[in-house]
Amino acid sequence: MRHTAIDPFQTSRFADVGLQLLKAAGVEQLVVHHAELSELRLPAMVGRADRFDFAFVDGSHRFDAVFVDLFYLSRLLVPGAVVVLDDLQLPSVARAAAFYVNNLEWTIEECSTSPEHHWIALRTSSVPDERPFGHFVDF
Ligand SMILES: C[S@@+](CC[C@H](N)C(=O)[O-])C[C@H]1O[C@@H](n2cnc3c(N)ncnc32)[C@H](O)[C@@H]1O
Repeated sequence: MRHTAIDPFQTSRFADVGLQLLKAAGVEQLVVHHAELSELRLPAMVGRADRFDFAFVDGSHRFDAVFVDLFYLSRLLVPGAVVVLDDLQLPSVARAAAFYVNNLEWTIEECSTSPEHHWIALRTSSVPDERPFGHFVDF
């Protein structure tokens, strides 16, 4: 098993506490951490033809950042993979997710029920994206 984590601010904002916890749990060798912005690291991974079975998205919560993370993940994940998206209560996150559900046939597997903090599990499409250029569903 291989787990890849992307966080450019692990050291500067969090004093490496996440990496220290991985070490304390004895699982540090399973995790590769990239101290880079996801909007830069994910396209590099696409260029290397990396593939992943699952993704958890909880980085920058601005609409454009989440949209771009999901754009590159759709190219990195195996068909029909699950992506969990945190903080869906934020309109920016919810709207980004809605694009993929309405336009790319991603499906909703499960949502949290807590009133304050929402997450959603999406399943990516298992068929290739063959939309014509005129295709667009508002989201
Ligand atoms: C809401 S926290 C969530 C952290 C972790 N998933 C957790 O639950 O404890 C958001 C994280 O995204 C990171 N982040 C912010 N902008 C980012 C970006 N552009 N690319 C990758 N990570 C980013 C922050 O440094 C922070 O660690």
